[in-house]
Amino acid sequence: MTTSVVIGGASGIGRAVAENLHARGDVVIVVDRDDAGKELAKNLGSNAHFVHADMSTSTGPRESITESLEISGGEIDVLYFGPAVLESRRLAEWTLEDWDRSLSVNLRAAFFVCQAAETALRKSPLGRIVLMSSTGAFRGHAGMHAYHASKSGMLGLVRSLADEFAPSVTVNAVCPGWIDTPFNDSFWTFQEDPKRAREQIEASIPARRQGQPSDVAGIINFLTTPEASYITGQSVTVDGGYTAV
Ligand SMILES: NC(=O)c1ccc[n+]([C@@H]2O[C@H](COP(=O)([O-])OP(=O)(O)OC[C@H]3O[C@@H](n4cnc5c(N)ncnc54)[C@H](O)[C@@H]3O)[C@@H](O)[C@H]2O)c1
Repeated sequence: MTTSVVIGGASGIGRAVAENLHARGDVVIVVDRDDAGKELAKNLGSNAHFVHADMSTSTGPRESITESLEISGGEIDVLYFGPAVLESRRLAEWTLEDWDRSLSVNLRAAFFVCQAAETALRKSPLGRIVLMSSTGAFRGHAGMHAYHASKSGMLGLVRSLADEFAPSVTVNAVCPGWIDTPFNDSFWTFQEDPKRAREQIEASIPARRQGQPSDVAGIINFLTTPEASYITGQSVTVDGGYTAV
């Protein structure tokens, strides 16, 4: 049986991933700092578990994997990492603490969960890592410096991990465009006219809408199947055409 650890699985894209992987028969361990993940695991029923962990701390990433391994009896076949911090403020207002708050979750934690899960992933017959990046790796917005830097950095991290984990484990990034989840709330409120900004962005997307978490979860389903064994070190963009035009 496949054991999938879904970090940031309590909401949005991670939640859709947890639901999909559970529906296909995986044992799913939802890791989150939000106890909504506990409720999700309860609702999914058998073969679903919850681990409470905060990815912003120095110990949270490793401890979440240790606890997951205790639940699964030492097995992790799929590791998904989705938590991220998105903060917007004028350049002059950024402090060292602000910068570290973003980078500690968006990049540092992603790296250290992979390190902690290495032994289990290497002995898995599947061995899949999916790290969430963003079209923010390719485009920039004023005010969101740490977010864009971290999401670009994620693509470098994916390439080095793909080389290190090869040939037994694949490591890929997924880059969503605008997905309608609570994640972007801080971006919308930063805009002078949030309603107008939303309309302008939606009009600029060839699909003429923001995506839903289920629009992104499908590719993660595929990347974590045996059929995807020849795809590694890549980033897959799911954005309704946003970065194509
Ligand atoms: N929503 C979008 O438009 C969009 C676009 C591009 C990329 N992404 C990326 O997709 C990923 C998921 O985004 P989403 O829209 O599903 O967000 P979301 O806010 O709906 O879900 C994020 C989850 O991560 C958890 N989380 C956040 N910080 C945490 C921490 N320190 N420790 C543990 N858990 C933590 C939250 O509790 C939540 O359950 C992020 O990496 C984000 O950068 C999202």
